[in-house]
Amino acid sequence: MTIIQQDLATLQSTTNTIDSDSIEKKSIEENVSQTVNNSADTDLIEEELSEEDSVDITHLRTPIKVDLSPVYNFLGARTTQAWVNAAIENLPMIIQDHANCEKKAAGTAMNLIFRYEFSYDLQRKLAQLIREEMLHYEQVLGIMNERGQEWKYLSAGRYAKGMLKHKRTYEPAAMVDVLIIGAFIEARSCERFAALAEVIDDERLAKYYRYLLKSESRHFEDYLALAQSLSDENIDERVAFFKEVEAELISSPDAELRFHSGTPA
Ligand SMILES: [Fe+2]
Ligand SMILES: [Fe+2]
Repeated sequence: MTIIQQDLATLQSTTNTIDSDSIEKKSIEENVSQTVNNSADTDLIEEELSEEDSVDITHLRTPIKVDLSPVYNFLGARTTQAWVNAAIENLPMIIQDHANCEKKAAGTAMNLIFRYEFSYDLQRKLAQLIREEMLHYEQVLGIMNERGQEWKYLSAGRYAKGMLKHKRTYEPAAMVDVLIIGAFIEARSCERFAALAEVIDDERLAKYYRYLLKSESRHFEDYLALAQSLSDENIDERVAFFKEVEAELISSPDAELRFHSGTPA
């Protein structure tokens, strides 16, 4: 805790004890704000209150441009215009499924954190990822609430199952496969947010999708790096295998529209 933060905490606790005296409280609050504003630590405090972490999406800092070329190169196929059109026509359902995806991303990472406790890197990266996915979940819940959209049950699509059925059953291969699949799910999410952001008729939502690009593209890279660092052998062949499986799931006809579904049948 910096000296300024200690001052702030002391002043705030003083403020709490004199709740009945509003004039004195106001003057203390002014002191607090002056102390903060005059401090050389101002940048540090602003950094700690960064709006990157805000549940309210109004003031999120949206990067002007995120380089998505690593995402596009990693994926074996681009989303079809037919999927984008269907998604726009069924936006509430896509938002609902997006909420499910954020929750599942956190849940999958939580499973990994319990199953593979030996790796410091894995634990640290997954802990950060879970925190970020749960923030996204809260943000999407807020968007649904704002839009007056009620929670609706949605069955899972074929996408994740379609990849997980190829997961090897022995360790560490099983763990490596789950991490590679995680990388594909994150990369695809990123690609679809970018595609939707370009065409949706809701600037607030488009801005939110652009905000997500930075974290989701980092999640893809984190999963991939973890998979390689925890594997005894080079993972290129396995990545190439899942690249084909994933591209097929995205490009082939799919009767069910979901955030990660194939081309509308
Ligand atoms: Fe997310
Ligand atoms: Fe993510």
